[in-house]
Amino acid sequence: MEGTIIATPMGRPQRDNQPLLLLTITDISERKRAEERRLQLERQMQQTQKLESLGVLAGGIAHDFNNLLTIILGNTSLALDDLPPLSPAGESLLTIEKTSLRAAELCRQILAYSGKGRFVIDDIRLGNLVGDMFSLLQSSISKKATLNLNLKEPLPPLHGDPGQIRQVIMNLVTNASEAIGDRGGVITISTGLMQCSREYLCEPYLYENLAEGLYVWFEVSDTGTGMDQETQRRIFEPFFTTKFTGRGLGLSAVLGIVRGHKGALKVYSKPGKGTTVKVLFPALAEGKFSAEQGAAPKAGTWNWKGAGTILLVDDEESVRTLGTRMLERIGFKVLVAADGQEALDIYRKRRDEIALILLDLTMPQMDGEATLHELRRIDAKVRVAISSGYTEAEIAPQFAGKPLFGFLQKPYTLNALTQCLRDAMGDGEIPTEP
Ligand SMILES: Nc1ncnc2c1ncn2[C@@H]1O[C@H](COP(=O)(O)OP(=O)(O)OP(=O)(O)O)[C@@H](O)[C@H]1O
Ligand SMILES: [Mg+2]
Repeated sequence: MEGTIIATPMGRPQRDNQPLLLLTITDISERKRAEERRLQLERQMQQTQKLESLGVLAGGIAHDFNNLLTIILGNTSLALDDLPPLSPAGESLLTIEKTSLRAAELCRQILAYSGKGRFVIDDIRLGNLVGDMFSLLQSSISKKATLNLNLKEPLPPLHGDPGQIRQVIMNLVTNASEAIGDRGGVITISTGLMQCSREYLCEPYLYENLAEGLYVWFEVSDTGTGMDQETQRRIFEPFFTTKFTGRGLGLSAVLGIVRGHKGALKVYSKPGKGTTVKVLFPALAEGKFSAEQGAAPKAGTWNWKGAGTILLVDDEESVRTLGTRMLERIGFKVLVAADGQEALDIYRKRRDEIALILLDLTMPQMDGEATLHELRRIDAKVRVAISSGYTEAEIAPQFAGKPLFGFLQKPYTLNALTQCLRDAMGDGEIPTEP
């Protein structure tokens, strides 16, 4: 109990002349607890706001950056396609293509900080993922550290971006190794499955209302320096570091990715003893998950030829020019519109010839979603594929219940565009939801 005691002398009112003292005891434990709760809530809000503003910034950069990369990548794949076989320029162009794809990957990492960068969605088996990373992890930790695996098998899969989950593991193992330093110690990666209640999933740094249920988890434990309370409170702040050369971004990225996957985080640490970071993700019910969707192009994409007219809608002139060239290369006739309104005008006049509309999502004034809405009012069966620098998973809620014919992630190569259109036009069947 915490509180105050006030003693007030009452004089000597009694006959035996004994002095009287009035003691007032106030218990303020409850008030203190309420204050502590308020402070904690305030900290959570600040943390969430910080992440949100970083997210807005990252989203903005990613959009512009993706448009630039679309031009570089698209032109490169056109040039590659033009090139006679065995041309000496081929290798340089392939290097440009590879480098642009790496730049796009970097863009995804930036988006990861905001929890908005889920690009590739797959069913992930934690055991396989960790197992495949073992030698990479071993070669990247301190020579004095020993890496152990403690994997529970079989585990149900989780739904997420394998690249990002790998990034989480890498960041945590790097921190564990740095905490061990030159003294020597053990790093253990364990996996498992547990039923989690709402209370268990609620943590100060994750202001998220997670549903209770079955979660798959992995844990990175180390026997390193550990952390005091003050450090533990700040580790997820962007740019918080206690290291000389640290950037303080490792755990911010982890937090962003975990938020993006509707997962949870737990940190247990004691100075001098070590640290355990546990990451939990909602488990997919066995039998419900789809087959692995590889990123590799489907067979036959290269030879596939399109026919008919595509209406290309994009506010960036350079993307329209490039897109036209790429679509013509695949075999389509192309109409272009610079904004939603123009797209509607063209569609009203020429809907009979238009086989598919390739619609950019982020446009000023009337964006892709509003344009799609209006297009559907003109023609409920309009065929639309969305192209965007955002992820399919991220835009999915926007289009829930509104079937699309395809999704094209920017930046795209000629091959990716061909694949998207082939899937969208191929069979003329009922479209799938994004
Ligand atoms: N396993 C750990 N043991 C002890 N301290 C840790 C551990 N993991 C994180 N920390 C503390 O949290 C801080 C923030 O970690 P974070 O990974 O975000 O940044 P960093 O490692 O300092 O830099 P970066 O990861 O950007 O290179 C660290 O500087 C360190 O003080
Ligand atoms: Mg780090």
